[in-house]
Amino acid sequence: MKILTIDTPSCKSNIFCGSGAFEERAARLKGKKLFIVTDSNVYKLYYGCIEQKFGENPVYVLPAGEKSKNYRWLFNILSAMLKADITRADTVVAFGGGVVGDIAGLAASLYMRGINLIQIPTTLLAQVDSSVGGKTAVDFDGVKNVIGTFYQPSEVIVDPFFLSTLPKRQLRCGLGEIVKYGVLNADIFHELESHRSSLFSFVFEDGIVYDCIAHKAAVVAADERDTGGQRKTLNAGHTTGHAFELCYGHKSHGEFVLIGLFYETYIAVKLGYCESAYAQKLTALIKKVLGDIPYFADAGSAARLAKHDKKNVLATQVSVIAPQSEGKSVEIILSLNEYCRLIDECNDLIAEGKI
Ligand SMILES: NC(=O)c1ccc[n+]([C@@H]2O[C@H](COP(=O)([O-])OP(=O)(O)OC[C@H]3O[C@@H](n4cnc5c(N)ncnc54)[C@H](O)[C@@H]3O)[C@@H](O)[C@H]2O)c1
Ligand SMILES: [Zn+2]
Repeated sequence: MKILTIDTPSCKSNIFCGSGAFEERAARLKGKKLFIVTDSNVYKLYYGCIEQKFGENPVYVLPAGEKSKNYRWLFNILSAMLKADITRADTVVAFGGGVVGDIAGLAASLYMRGINLIQIPTTLLAQVDSSVGGKTAVDFDGVKNVIGTFYQPSEVIVDPFFLSTLPKRQLRCGLGEIVKYGVLNADIFHELESHRSSLFSFVFEDGIVYDCIAHKAAVVAADERDTGGQRKTLNAGHTTGHAFELCYGHKSHGEFVLIGLFYETYIAVKLGYCESAYAQKLTALIKKVLGDIPYFADAGSAARLAKHDKKNVLATQVSVIAPQSEGKSVEIILSLNEYCRLIDECNDLIAEGKI
């Protein structure tokens, strides 16, 4: 097990990563009063484990899925915390994927103006991304993550033990964020390149998950509140990915990140920001994880939703964090019309089987 510490102005957050992390850290929580939040799928799979490690502590089970990430379920959790007599000395444990982590994190940050939070991420996506960095949120009025806080967990327990029950599609979603780290970090890119033919088993090894977390931890330490520019880079692939996700379904964030990376690589090459040899290697990696890039009816119109992206200052411009060369990304700001035109162009080439 390896330990990483994120030291930010608001908190010291320790990340315990590797096989055995859960066993070891859970033992240290014995005797503490905990309020455990999980979801219905995770509870079904890990009921025995929760019972054995956390005994009599109250467990709140959310219906699984993004549809529970809203203010109604947030208030249900807060109400259950009150009923369970949770005090400021107690701890919320978010035991699940990114949905559980985001909503339980927000509940912990609001209850009595903030009580201790521990994240135990059980999806690959949550392990490499959402459990680390202190962003909490619920969706509201059809907009993703619009109500939220920055609230660092005191501890994140990342154990590959939980990944063995994940369906392949969820592994692919986690790999979507991992390929994103590959765009930002040359070492991660090389690791992925050299395990091209075994990516879905490679993620069970401790190394790659740790390296992604270490990358994110360094970015968060430098720019906790997403104001300095560094944290923005973690949105590579996300401008286009989020726009398509809004239009074509909320189901698979990580897959849309891969699609977004594909389109944004195309844009970067077309506009002369990215070397084409590198772009070819990157798009081959994306296809290795995702399979064929889907063709979308009316992609250009869907892309117009990118104007809502948080990175944009003006509604007539679009910002994308695009790959430039190995380990280097670049922010490209385009007019909305130019962006949509390039998205349409790329979509047509996909339909014709030319890229
Ligand atoms: N806070 C952040 O910085 C941040 C970053 C990225 C994504 N997110 C958020 O994370 C969410 C997506 O996270 P996710 O992909 O983990 O989704 P999720 O929490 O919905 O989990 C995906 C599915 O896997 C199931 N599951 C969880 N653990 C399992 C296990 N060990 N075995 C089998 N099934 C398991 C869940 O029940 C669910 O059905 C989105 O809401 C997104 O906005 C937040
Ligand atoms: Zn993401």
